[in-house]
Amino acid sequence: MIRKAILSANSRVFSTEIDGVKVVVKKYEKSKKNKWHILLRIFFRLTKHPLLTPTVLSADKNSVLFETGKLKNMFSRGINVPRVLYICDDYFVMSYTGENLTDIIDKEPKRRRELIEKAIIQMALMHNAGFTHGGSQIRNFTELNGEIFSIDFEEVTSDDFRDEMRLRDVMLFIFSLQENNYDPDVAEICALYEKYAKTNIFPSVLELLLKLRWLKAFNMKIFKPWLGQDLKCAIEMVKKAEAVSADNDG
Ligand SMILES: Nc1ncnc2c1ncn2[C@@H]1O[C@H](COP(=O)(O)OP(=O)(O)O)[C@@H](O)[C@H]1O
Ligand SMILES: [Mg+2]
Repeated sequence: MIRKAILSANSRVFSTEIDGVKVVVKKYEKSKKNKWHILLRIFFRLTKHPLLTPTVLSADKNSVLFETGKLKNMFSRGINVPRVLYICDDYFVMSYTGENLTDIIDKEPKRRRELIEKAIIQMALMHNAGFTHGGSQIRNFTELNGEIFSIDFEEVTSDDFRDEMRLRDVMLFIFSLQENNYDPDVAEICALYEKYAKTNIFPSVLELLLKLRWLKAFNMKIFKPWLGQDLKCAIEMVKKAEAVSADNDG
């Protein structure tokens, strides 16, 4: 009966209480291509950059088993992720790890900088443990009792391209800040990441953004009505990268 209620629930992810404990139910969904995947695919075709490799789980794999496998693995290595409590074919139940950072920042704009920094540190710690997120947008971080957690591990990240996947995580994070109009400072974000991940990332981020310079060609009045939010963000990021590299040169 519980199963029936869960499957007929309107939202795919929702929180509820079991024996007075707050938990989150996430239902199985077939292929999950979103605008990011489409955008990345276009970039991948044009640039052949491994960073932009598509990461959508193939349709024959079960997303529940995939995501819970990743969660358990990370949980056992001490990474801040939800604890998996129950699994079946159609959904899984995990511990509640607080509100997501975009929601918190909406309510408490003053905490923006602090929370962005904490998310970067969490991402670096995950990378240090040998994992990558795949869906590292700011909304996929939560805060509970002052601790930051990572959620949403539906993306397939390839171990063959670990460095590229890390770079992809950082880029996706920065892009999501831009998308939320948080005005990300690329240099500052990379510096904080580098401090905790103990690896260089800024030159690669800059290089990748500058490689997308040609996107600015779309930044003309005639294209404006057709420019999607993603493309607008990408163009903004390219402009930022250009400003930073001009600073560095001058
Ligand atoms: N374990 C959790 N604890 C608290 N909130 C969660 C948890 N899992 C998901 N959520 C909430 O549900 C939202 C959607 O879940 P997510 O796993 O990111 O799925 P989607 O693929 O739809 O982005 C998240 O942005 C977050 O607000
Ligand atoms: Mg999500």
